[in-house]
Amino acid sequence: LSTMVVPGSQHKLYHPPEGLQKDAHVPDFNCYLELYKKSIEEPDVFWKEVASDFYWKKPPTGQILQYNFDVTKGNIYVKCMEGATTNMCYNVLDRNVKDKNLGERVAFYWEGNSPDHREAITYGQLLGQVCRCSNTLKQMGVRKGDRVAIYLPMIPELVYTMLACTRIGAVHSIVFAGFSAESLCERIMDSQCSILVTADGVYRGEKLINLKQIADEALEKCRENIPVETLSTPCRVPCPDELRLPVVFPVVQTPWDAACDVCWEEVMGQVSEQCEPEWLDAEDPLFILYTSGSTGKPKGVLHTVAGYLLYTSLTFKYVFDHQPDDVYWCTADIGWITGHSYITYGPLANGATSVLFEGIPVHPHVGRFWEVIEKYRVTKFYTAPTAIRLLMKYGLDPVQKYDLSSLRILGTVGEPINPEAWHWYHEVIGQKRCPVVDTFWQTETGGHVLTPLPAATPLKPGSAVSYHHIYTVYTVFRGRVKGRVKEPRSGMLFTYFKKFPGFYVTGDGCRRDKDGYYWIAGRIDDMINVSGHLLSTAEVEASLTDHGAVAEAAVVSRPHTVKGECLYCFVTLKDCREFNRTLVDELKRQGKIMRRVLRQIARNEKDLGDLSTMADPKVVEVLFNHRCETA
Ligand code: WTA
Repeated sequence: LSTMVVPGSQHKLYHPPEGLQKDAHVPDFNCYLELYKKSIEEPDVFWKEVASDFYWKKPPTGQILQYNFDVTKGNIYVKCMEGATTNMCYNVLDRNVKDKNLGERVAFYWEGNSPDHREAITYGQLLGQVCRCSNTLKQMGVRKGDRVAIYLPMIPELVYTMLACTRIGAVHSIVFAGFSAESLCERIMDSQCSILVTADGVYRGEKLINLKQIADEALEKCRENIPVETLSTPCRVPCPDELRLPVVFPVVQTPWDAACDVCWEEVMGQVSEQCEPEWLDAEDPLFILYTSGSTGKPKGVLHTVAGYLLYTSLTFKYVFDHQPDDVYWCTADIGWITGHSYITYGPLANGATSVLFEGIPVHPHVGRFWEVIEKYRVTKFYTAPTAIRLLMKYGLDPVQKYDLSSLRILGTVGEPINPEAWHWYHEVIGQKRCPVVDTFWQTETGGHVLTPLPAATPLKPGSAVSYHHIYTVYTVFRGRVKGRVKEPRSGMLFTYFKKFPGFYVTGDGCRRDKDGYYWIAGRIDDMINVSGHLLSTAEVEASLTDHGAVAEAAVVSRPHTVKGECLYCFVTLKDCREFNRTLVDELKRQGKIMRRVLRQIARNEKDLGDLSTMADPKVVEVLFNHRCETA
């Protein structure tokens, strides 16, 4: 939104390692530019090539990509492969097993919460389990277009169920298995799900979570809330009275209601391992996933079959430079979009071998991530800056116990990565050998929007992303889905496009430096207005984490009678640092000094006073040298 010139000399560039460039899909920057140009100038040719990798029962009837992003020219819409029919599950499983002969290849190494629990699942086995689950869902009355709520931990059954839905044309709505009964109920009600798939319980670290009990509470609430009219609706929108629960894994004793609860193991054993896929229209709904909306009510984002398949498979292949011998690991939970796109769909569409991890990074010890990397010889590793900052706190010892030499590419997602965390990740984990792909995107976009490509883009640490974006955003999003509405709710779409006709607005602020690198500053709707001064929470957080004692910081606003709002800062200190009054004063000064100094630079006031608490006082000189005089 605003462009600020950051002198290139201030940033050391990290060039792609030559070894990686040799066999890469996009081996250098020129090659990337060619691809980029093609995607912009000849989108149909570009996407036709991507689509030719996949199976289409019927080919598209018109142009591959049709859209209008300009509110002044009519309704906003996005259509991909219009007229074609296909099936997601067929493309990510049958195609690999039958056409590519990958039946014996491991799709997932499942690693449990406890390091003793593991399982390897091949593409052939995965197809069999998914077909069984598809038949089970069908037997329970689920039909094309019906919504299925999934409230499962990171166990293989989660993948079986989501793919089973896509096989029979049902729309999955996965609710992160850490959410409360209220949140689960709200989501079930919003998308009018007919079935809820859950587990009796799960251990997250040492903590037991009684999922079935929470699910029961959620369903009770749903039944209370459902308006009478809906109960008597004669259409095929199944009413919540029919909600049933297949339950997996006997972790804990759970209350059982034989009238509506169905046991996973019993039913799965009774059905066939064969199931014909349902052929869907390219623009049929694939899944709904809720994300937080600025109004405070969760917002249902709906992705459709063809666009999502093409986009997640393409970005996975290029951004992680997928190679057949890779073992890829994304540590996200499938309950979030990162897990949907880059644990399930993108990797499977590429025939990749992935780690599916149920655990947490600090159980049973703080070196668990590094242990898992060594155990499976992980080559591509994708995690969140939060996890990196958490693990940084424990120093080098837990890392150095393990052999991380298999790693080739590292990735981050979800929030801006601060340079300190970037350097630690690059040097300690990647041993200076692995590019860090910092991927910026959103639930709404379904896949990466701004990202470096590992063999093609020189990196700037802490620049959230770099260079031109990959051509993107054509999946369909909309809010509440009732019945089998097929057209996107243009009202919902409108909000993303109204600010700048012709453009999708992500809601994030960023600056672009003179080299074209983008630096994401955080949500523009996460601004805090203190005494009429707008502050970005991310900006204050960055200032706090610049202090040597702080590992992580989160800033929110609190109503203030005089100032309107004031900052409320949560900080996690690095090990061995003590929280006391002096530190609080230092942290307050930290924020103030930076703002004061920036203001003085803007006004060309050279007498800056004490800069000793700044992380890097030399920056001030550089900024002065590049001051711009324009009004
Ligand atoms: C933020 C997660 C900086 C951003 C995939 C975005 C990021 C929101 C990055 C979407 C990144 C995501 N650098 N910020 N690399 N990746 N974000 O829908 O504010 O859960 O708008 O999707 O996360 O969050 P969501």
